[in-house]
Amino acid sequence: MASLARNFEELFGRKPEVISEAPGRVNLIGEHIDYSEGFVLPFAIADRTYAAIASRPDGLVRIASHQRKEKIFSIDIHDVKPGSKGDWEKYVLGVLWSLGITTGVDILVDGSVPAGAGLSSSAALECSVAVGLNELFTLNQSLEELARATQKAENNYVGVPCGIMDQSVSLMAKAGAALLLDCRDLSTESVPFSVADAGLELLIIDTQAHHALVDGGYAERRAACESVAAKLNIPSMRHLSLEVLESNRDKITATEFMRARHAVTEIARVLDAVKALRSSDFEALGKLINESHISLRDDYAVSCPELDVAVAASLEAGAIGSRMVGGGFGGSAIALIKAEDISKVRDAITAAFESHGFKRPRFFTSLPSSGASASRY
Ligand code: GLA
Repeated sequence: MASLARNFEELFGRKPEVISEAPGRVNLIGEHIDYSEGFVLPFAIADRTYAAIASRPDGLVRIASHQRKEKIFSIDIHDVKPGSKGDWEKYVLGVLWSLGITTGVDILVDGSVPAGAGLSSSAALECSVAVGLNELFTLNQSLEELARATQKAENNYVGVPCGIMDQSVSLMAKAGAALLLDCRDLSTESVPFSVADAGLELLIIDTQAHHALVDGGYAERRAACESVAAKLNIPSMRHLSLEVLESNRDKITATEFMRARHAVTEIARVLDAVKALRSSDFEALGKLINESHISLRDDYAVSCPELDVAVAASLEAGAIGSRMVGGGFGGSAIALIKAEDISKVRDAITAAFESHGFKRPRFFTSLPSSGASASRY
């Protein structure tokens, strides 16, 4: 990242001490269950956010982004606490705060993860800063500790009640593999995910839809799962089976029943998807991906017309599996397709979006990529 270092030097008049990077993510399966202590199976995409960092002796924190024309935001390190000033800079400030940094720093970030597409550009930003600070100040924090710290930054500083999946995969991903993450204890297993060897491609479809509902909708789903857990006297949806859920139907509302059913069935689908991947059974994987979408759409109600149209159009054009990914209410969908079908599927989705009067979708593909890293400059 020679150009980032050069830009840092031009902007701040000195060399960076550390350069770090962290990727965005796509979740293959296991949606809206990280905050229910479930299993998830995401992978890191090639697009990442880079950070160049150097410490300052005077307690000043200066933050700039290449995308924001390198306009410098300044704040004293002692004023870095929840409720501080800052717009996107809060993702960076939150990490300084949650890692307990008391020294000033200059930070320049440069992000290539498409923002607003549901590909976790915010986790990429938090994690690149976190691994950079970990290296700069020799904090010796483990990846699990950094995942918890970056989640805390997002929950308590930025104010988004997200789970632990996005930060964990951005930090812990391995190239060529999906990451089976147990959100209860953050233990992981690498699951080889080599679609190309099977003549397949994973298409990422950014619907370009962003619904105002997002924040409230996410918190509401989370609250519904917590309410079911409280009423059934269990720690989380991880401790629930379909049988127990059925037999306690009268203790919870009809909506809570559907939310819990999604959580229970989705956790089971992740484990089935791991089996399918380990035996290169992509038909079975596709079926699980389809079931995940139906469950997210009907039981969890976090899809939206654009996502449903993207999924339906890809399946009609021959996709093996397709579903919404991430928090929902907009953002991206994925489609597992035969490599030779890629333009057919893209054209079918574009045509369907046009006929519904939706914005033109954007398409990406990405091989499973490696997690965050940092090095001395
Ligand atoms: C967002 C959150 C994650 C996770 C997903 C849904 O990406 O940041 O923690 O809950 O939604 O699976």
